[in-house]
Amino acid sequence: MASVTTLLWLGVCLSGWNIISADENSFPRAENLRWHSLDFTTILQWTVEPSAYTYTVLFSVDDDNWENSNHCIQISASECDLTNNLRLSDRTYTADVQTEIETMDDDLPHTFSPKFNPYRESNISAVEFTVDALDDRRVIVNITDPLTAIYARGKQLSIRDILQKDLKYKISYYKSGSTGKRDIISDSSMAEVQGLDAGASYCFMVAAFIPSRPKATQQGAWSTQHCTQGHKDDLQDLSVGAWVGAGFIVLTVLIVIITVTVLCCRQRNKTLQMSQSSASV
Ligand SMILES: *[C@@H]1O[C@H](CO)[C@@H](O)[C@H](O)[C@H]1NC(C)=O
Ligand SMILES: *[C@@H]1O[C@H](CO)[C@@H](O)[C@H](O)[C@H]1NC(C)=O
Repeated sequence: MASVTTLLWLGVCLSGWNIISADENSFPRAENLRWHSLDFTTILQWTVEPSAYTYTVLFSVDDDNWENSNHCIQISASECDLTNNLRLSDRTYTADVQTEIETMDDDLPHTFSPKFNPYRESNISAVEFTVDALDDRRVIVNITDPLTAIYARGKQLSIRDILQKDLKYKISYYKSGSTGKRDIISDSSMAEVQGLDAGASYCFMVAAFIPSRPKATQQGAWSTQHCTQGHKDDLQDLSVGAWVGAGFIVLTVLIVIITVTVLCCRQRNKTLQMSQSSASV
């Protein structure tokens, strides 16, 4: 009899446990957590089943000391801007998105994000730059470091303020009309490009380049292209078509002159012959 009661109790407990775990699984959880980061503006996005639940985002550096993100507490949106929480240089962060439910224990349904290090993985946008001739064979490339959304002591920081010596720029250029490209790496935002052909037009493109990063995130987006004017002498500037046209005109004029000359001479000879023969009659 005792053993039957035990068995019955066990059965009740098991089914009760089943109901609880089924309930826990039925709470919506954040899914597909992913990072978007451009010029160190870093946003965590996720997906959830539509529901009335809210979510709270926590983050930690190197999986230590979990902290609440100050502005993503009990939010119903499915993204959180963590730019100002992830600002320590070259550290790896993890975020945790918790579903807010009424519960006795601390174990809320939650999902961890992939690890993310903005210093190494934030994309860098295309830069603005100018090119000015120093003399016939040298130009100066002046690059504007993109600004970030991060402020320190009232100053808006540029990517140079964050990456410092790790930030280089790749300058790619080619002579107008030629296919050969050349790349140079510049440590600073101001670079002199030398050894250009005097008078030729050159086109330049620039991208941020961070060789200390993993290969996949080393290079920023390419800028638009800027070309120098170049000053060629006018004869060199003529296209093939112009040359053919000019040749054709010269040839036509020559043919006309020769024809006219030949015709005139013949006419003169005839007249001479006629006057000679009339004289002899
Ligand atoms: C960086 O840009 C690439 C290409 O557009 C994109 O696939 C990647 O998700 C971006 N990374 C981040 C962290 O935003
Ligand atoms: C480079 O560009 C910046 C921003 O456009 C400008 O303030 C600076 O004077 C320029 N420097 C030179 C040497 O042209």
